[in-house]
Amino acid sequence: MGLILVTGGTGTLGRIVVRRLEIQGHNVRVLSRRPPPPAWSPGGHDGPAAWATGDLRRDRGIDAAVAGADVIVHCATGLGDVAAAGHLIDAARRAGRPHLAYISIVGVDRVPVGYYKSKLAVERQVESSGLPWTVLRATQYHDLILRGCQALARLPVMPVPGRVAFQPIDAGEVAERLAELAVGPAAGRVPDMGGPEVRGTAELARSYLAARGRHRPVLPVRIPGAAFAGFRRGDHLTPDHAVGRVTFAQFLAERFTSDGQPEPGAGGEPGAGGEPGAGPDPSAGPRTGSGAA
Ligand SMILES: NC(=O)c1ccc[n+]([C@@H]2O[C@H](COP(=O)([O-])OP(=O)(O)OC[C@H]3O[C@@H](n4cnc5c(N)ncnc54)[C@H](OP(=O)(O)O)[C@@H]3O)[C@@H](O)[C@H]2O)c1
Repeated sequence: MGLILVTGGTGTLGRIVVRRLEIQGHNVRVLSRRPPPPAWSPGGHDGPAAWATGDLRRDRGIDAAVAGADVIVHCATGLGDVAAAGHLIDAARRAGRPHLAYISIVGVDRVPVGYYKSKLAVERQVESSGLPWTVLRATQYHDLILRGCQALARLPVMPVPGRVAFQPIDAGEVAERLAELAVGPAAGRVPDMGGPEVRGTAELARSYLAARGRHRPVLPVRIPGAAFAGFRRGDHLTPDHAVGRVTFAQFLAERFTSDGQPEPGAGGEPGAGGEPGAGPDPSAGPRTGSGAA
């Protein structure tokens, strides 16, 4: 296997994909809009072998990022994902016929959320790209549920969407599967990947509060609209594919000490050893950007 480009290789999922591929001895290049961090050490222990600065949405630096890649793992997401995917696919076609592995979300074809519609449109672009392709859909990462909890727990009463459940999964487990798929033959749409448990929002919120040693009433609120009707129906869940092993409670136990403080080293910067389960600094609060999934 030659060079593997990971778009979004600085994000929650992508940086774990990068780390896994590196551990397996693959030659990896990260695409980011930013220049490499000062401590980035090409070819060293602290970072992948190469870094390409470019912007998929603006189509800047993408030909150089894609050049020589045998595989592209497309984890980048943000505003303008459809345009971004178009630019990536065009550059990939010019570069040869790399295997394009894309991460999507369970229920993008069923829950009418704008972000999901764009993910579905990107799936269609990938499928019709003429490139060898693989698409994996996963449920929400524990990190996303954690960020939602952190935001909602700032209020004296913690509101949660009523009669909605999630099936959160460890981003490390998704990264492991995506990395495995990326280095294998193009597989088309593969079976969905869901977390080990389907749990109601109030339960998830109480797990978070318990892990932080905080006390708040949890208030389920019925949210109107077609999107939340879809979430109430469970159209974003895949109980038949509950293949994840790490529960939300186990994820929280890794992130917070027994007295509810962020566990030192549980987060970390890109390339700082993001093994399965590693992710952004849990004290950093909600990320701006994609609001992925
Ligand atoms: N979060 C979930 O619960 C979940 C569940 C299932 C599937 N997914 C999917 O998994 C993927 C990764 O999600 P995530 O939560 O890991 O994302 P994330 O942490 O928000 O990271 C987004 C990444 O995209 C890059 N990016 C954004 N705009 C870009 C642009 N214009 N050009 C180049 N790079 C750009 C960012 O890199 P820089 O900032 O360094 O440029 C960053 O690395 C997404 O496709 C998402 O839909 C997410």
